[in-house]
Amino acid sequence: MKIVSISENKDIEKRIAITPEIAKKYISNGFELFITKNYGEHLGFKDSDYETLGVKLSSDQKEILAKGDIIIQLGLLQNEYLSILKENQSLIGVLDPYKNKDQIDNLAKKNINFFSLELLPRITRAQSMDILSSQANLAGYKAVIESFAHFEKAIPMMMTAAGTIPAAKVLVVGAGVAGLQAIATAKRMGAIVFATDVRMASKEQVESLGGKFLTVEGSENLETQGGYAKETTDDFKKKQEQLLAETLKKIDIVICTALIPGKKAPVIVKDFMIENMHSGSVIYDLAAIQGGNTSLTEVNKTIEKNGVKIMGESNILNKLPTSASNLYAKNVYNFVINLYDKENKKININLDDEIIKQTIIK
Ligand code: NAI
Repeated sequence: MKIVSISENKDIEKRIAITPEIAKKYISNGFELFITKNYGEHLGFKDSDYETLGVKLSSDQKEILAKGDIIIQLGLLQNEYLSILKENQSLIGVLDPYKNKDQIDNLAKKNINFFSLELLPRITRAQSMDILSSQANLAGYKAVIESFAHFEKAIPMMMTAAGTIPAAKVLVVGAGVAGLQAIATAKRMGAIVFATDVRMASKEQVESLGGKFLTVEGSENLETQGGYAKETTDDFKKKQEQLLAETLKKIDIVICTALIPGKKAPVIVKDFMIENMHSGSVIYDLAAIQGGNTSLTEVNKTIEKNGVKIMGESNILNKLPTSASNLYAKNVYNFVINLYDKENKKININLDDEIIKQTIIK
């Protein structure tokens, strides 16, 4: 079995899907590996690090793809590469099947297997493969670091002979994986942290990290069986708006992480709320690429409104690509091992396995 991976377009994706540490594991399981020359150079992983393990390198991306039984990437391949895929090849990545539905549907008809890892069920057995959690955790951490760097005041309370600096107040909107890590990071740096979510289950988690949970009345039944948020009703939105309008007047930094799988991100922080915030405040919107949690967010831009900065990063993981790649590569490796029938040296698409059934796109 041959596993291959080609270089991503590094202007938009700096992560890699196979690190030398993980290449070694694949090879010890009997896989042959092929990757593009300079695959991990930008992260400090030299070609020679791979070559000494037995990985083959080439500068011809199409030739590499043609060899692969399993192709491992970050996102969906570009069209010029997608079009050369053939029957029985398997592509594994974060393929964004809602956005790329037509392209994937057409190719799936040709018996090419697509496994999209953001569809993994949030079950215990899938935790070691859970790319959403590993990447969201890093994103939550980095969003705090980035927003604090753009905030022109100190974060912790400081009592000095020259006077007292109050602690910065942070609001985290959406207390899932990214939000909880944002809370933990902001607390460690001395901020006073508030958080809100539509899932009441997150209240206890926020409080266990030392955050203050802001409950919107009517939060019952807004969680799906899979643990995700449902879309809220107009009545709920109004109540959430009232609560946040008051809260935001005293908040210095907002970290937005609220998402609904497969849907546009909910707009939670409205114009009029931003207008009431202090000049110098910072909003860091991790939901930017899905439309943003504020009405002003623009992807890869910092918008300034009455002195409030609204930052919309498209891929914050590009700001810590080495850590993100290490975890992503390990997650995918665990997924491949679960998919692989070692005895018969082939992949086993066992649709009785919840992990495979939910990630394969038919
Ligand atoms: P996500 O990235 O889909 O959404 C982030 C957060 O935004 C969620 O907590 C969601 O409830 C919240 N949200 C959505 N709409 C909102 C709104 N209008 N207002 C306020 N908040 C809103 O979620 P994520 O981080 O992927 O977590 C999803 C679930 O998966 C959680 O229940 C988490 O605990 C669970 N999980 C389970 C794991 C397992 O292996 N058992 C591993 C990781 C996560």
